[in-house]
This record gives sequence, structure tokens and C-alpha cells, in this order.
Amino acid sequence: TLNILNRSEVPPFTIEEQSDGGDELRMRYRYLDLRRPPLQRNLMLRHRMAQSLRRFLDNEGFLEIETPFLIRSTPEGARDFVVPSRMNAGEFYALPQSPQTFKQLLMVSGYDRYFQIVRCFRDEDLRADRQPEFTQIDCEMSFVEQEDVLEVFERLAKYMFSETLGITFDYQFQRMPWQEAMARYGSDKPDIRFGMEINDLSEEARGKGFVVFDSAEYVGGIVAKGCADYTRKQIDELTEFVKRPQVGAKGLVWIRLAADGSIKSSIDKFFSADELRAWAGKCGAEAGDLMMILAGDRMKTLAALNVLRLEMGDRLGLRDPHKFAPLWVVDFPLLEWDEETHRFYAMHHPFTSPKPEDIPLFDTDPAAIRANAYDFVVNGVEVGGGSIRIFDSALQSRLFETLGFTHEEAEKQFGFLMNAFKYGAPPHGGIAFGFDRMCAVFGGADSIRDYIAFPKNNAGRDTMIDAPAPLADAQLDELALRVEKPEATK
Ligand code: AMO
Repeated sequence: TLNILNRSEVPPFTIEEQSDGGDELRMRYRYLDLRRPPLQRNLMLRHRMAQSLRRFLDNEGFLEIETPFLIRSTPEGARDFVVPSRMNAGEFYALPQSPQTFKQLLMVSGYDRYFQIVRCFRDEDLRADRQPEFTQIDCEMSFVEQEDVLEVFERLAKYMFSETLGITFDYQFQRMPWQEAMARYGSDKPDIRFGMEINDLSEEARGKGFVVFDSAEYVGGIVAKGCADYTRKQIDELTEFVKRPQVGAKGLVWIRLAADGSIKSSIDKFFSADELRAWAGKCGAEAGDLMMILAGDRMKTLAALNVLRLEMGDRLGLRDPHKFAPLWVVDFPLLEWDEETHRFYAMHHPFTSPKPEDIPLFDTDPAAIRANAYDFVVNGVEVGGGSIRIFDSALQSRLFETLGFTHEEAEKQFGFLMNAFKYGAPPHGGIAFGFDRMCAVFGGADSIRDYIAFPKNNAGRDTMIDAPAPLADAQLDELALRVEKPEATK
């Protein structure tokens, strides 16, 4: 017999491997989209990864402890999502951007190894690898130095690769200083699946009367193997690509090393063939290769070279999503100068410890202070980041001062932490992995959305439940709130 338990309407798109729905429709009917095999596989991968994480951390003696979601807003970091309090009219909670201060307090309380698979909330502009609410594998340990943390979490990463993908790494992951990552790859999250490294040509390029190079702080180039036969059209396309505002280069200089040994470039007027051949030698370019050169402000040009390098990597099929190249980026600067607000910001967060030998630089050159901070990077994605923390109130006050906090402000915002440090705080440090990103990278995907059951769209909306939404007047009254409608909706 065949019993019909329930009847289905015709779904608004086909439920199969590849669907015809289009993003918007599929988001609105997410519960139907989730029936499709690729999404089922993704959520199963996520489940398996969560299980193996818990197994590993439990075996290593980490305790899973929950921390509050209704906390206090702080001015550092990204924008907070806030929650009005009914019982304390006119006052607001904030949702945590991470459990950072709470896990540090747990160290003061003697819970030497803590972890939590925890939701975090950040009101920032969204991209393929960013959601307003996302999940961290948040960890902290006491009585550790940087090397101890890297050792434990490198084993965790290897365990995950082996348990969920059957991939083993029989070598220690590279630890690349931040300066080196910037110089060789133009990025603090280098994709080391392929070479095509950046070469500094500033010395060679300046002083020959080519004003673009002469006026540049930095000139650098990459070599695209076997691309000497790129057509004019292809090169124009790449020039347009680097000139897009997101990339920000002013133009693209090219040198073709033809297969017959001849050399041709867009700067023939200023440089002899021998000079260009010397550049090619320095960059490891051979007959058949195309060199692409950008010039300008050093950091901006390196960043643009990174984008160009990744684009060329994609075009040449050098970025196989099922090949994995993990590494640690270490020795980040402690501080970042902001031209707009004319102040330093903490590059990681304000609880990150400077390298002890760099502490004297607080007086002379704060921008040069290196932090005991590290990122875990896989295939050009920042999968995790952490640091060794300050555990001394005096040094913590010193850093707040450098960040422009008055003593009173620091006391108001972070007094609880600085007080806690007065009661025998152990040295401690930790890391948080972005779990959604880890799942997407393991699954070989760019977007984390397909690894989250109910994600938000790029405008931060859940179109299925239609959130965010206005509140009823009665609710607003209860919360002692009045809403000024933005111009557009009046
Ligand atoms: P951090 O801010 O580097 O460090 O965050 C840790 C990791 O979380 C992931 N991540 C995100 N994933 C998706 N969407 C987002 N909007 C998003 N923002 C961050 C990234 C990142 O590497 N408390 C510190 C950790 C520590 O010091 O222990 C922290 O939150 O993969």
C-alpha cells in the first residue's frame, strides 16, 4: 500500500545537485535548498568536523565552558550589535565579538585549558568569508608560550585534516614572519599553493627617467610562467583589472620574454633589453614568461600585487581547492597607525602581548613593536588567529595609554580585567579558529554561506524569516526607545 502522509506543492526551484533557483529565491526557501545534496554534504562535513574537534580537545584536557552573550559594548574592534535592556531602561547590552575577555578571566580562575564552539557577532561589511554571526572554536591555555600554543593547535589542525579528509601532513607547518609574508606575497594570509612570488625591483627601476617608477616608493613584479604569448587584449584586460578601485593600481607595466629569446615591454623607451634581462634574471623569469610590474606606495602596491597574483593563479589553474597548503604567519606588528583618526589601533586586540625584547620601543617607535601574535592560514584564507596575552596590569595600562585611552576610560571599559590580573594571573595565550571558514576551506569552497544552515545575505538580512524587522510601538515603549525612521523609509 501507498499512504500519502502529506501533499507537497510544486517547489519554487528544482531540488537537485545543481539548482535553477538563483540565490535570492533559494535563500527565501532555505528549508528546501537544504534538501539539495551539496548542502547536505556540507552540513554533514560540518558535523563531523565539530565531533572531531571536541574529541581532540577533550583528549587534550580542554574543558568546554560557556560564556555570556549579553555583555557590555566596547569601542575597540568591529561595531557591536546591541540589545536594549527592558529592566534597565536606556541601557544596552552588546553581543560579544568573541569571548576574549571571559576566556582570559577563566585563566585567572584556574581553568587552565578552556574551549568553546561559540557564536560571535560583528556588525561589519559582509563578504563571501564574513557573516554577521559566525562560529569560533575558541581556545585558551595557561602557563604557555607561543610555541606551546602553535604545537597543540598544529596537532589539532593535522588531526582534523586526517579525520575528516584523510589527508596527512608529515612535516611541521611553515612559520612565516609577517614582514616576510608581506614582502613575498603582499598579504598576511599568503596562498602558498603556488610560487609566483613578488620581487622587489625598486632599486633597478628608479633613476632612468621613467616618472612612474621614479616617483614610486616601491616597484615590484611577478612572473607568469608561459604567458609571454598573452595578446594585447589579455594584457589590456589585466590592466583594467588592476586599475579597479578594489585593487587600486594606477597601471600595469609588462615585459614579454618571447620564446625566441627576444624581449619586448611597455617601457622599452626607458630601459635597454640588457637591463630588462637583468630584471628577468632577478625574478627567475625565462623565455616564454610574462613579467607584470606595479609601482606606487609600498603597502598599497604589495596589496595590489597580491590580488594580481591570485588572479593569475586562478587563470593558470594553480589554486586547486582540494590541495591544502597550511602555514602560520607570526610576528605581527602590535599596533597599526590610522591616518584618519590619528591614533594607534591594536592589530589583533588590545590584550595581545608585545615581544618582551620590543617593550622599550613603546618610548621610541611604537609602530615597530612586534606582537606575540599568530594566524593560521590555509590556501590564502585566515582560518584562525590568536596571541599570547598581557597578564600584568601595568603593561596592560601602558598599552591602553598607547591606544589613546585615558586612565579613567581604560578603568571604565576594562577595569574588571585589570583588577583580575592583580590576583595572581598566570601567563596565558590562545587562539580562535573561524569554524565556518575552516569548514568551507576543507570543503574546497570560497563562500562560508553554504556551510551555515541559515545564513544572512550580503545586506545582513535573513530573507526567509524577514529579519531584521521593525518593533511594535508597545515593544518600543516597554524598552523606553523612540525610533527616528531613516529618510528613505519615511
Ligand atoms: P579574530 O578576530 O582573528 O580573533 O577571529 C578569529 C577567527 O574568526 C574568523 N572570523 C570570521 N569568520 C566569519 N565571519 C566573520 N565576520 C569573522 N570574523 C572573524 C576568522 C578569524 O581568524 N578573540 C580573538 C582570538 C584570540 O586572540 O584568541 C579573535 O576573535 O577565521
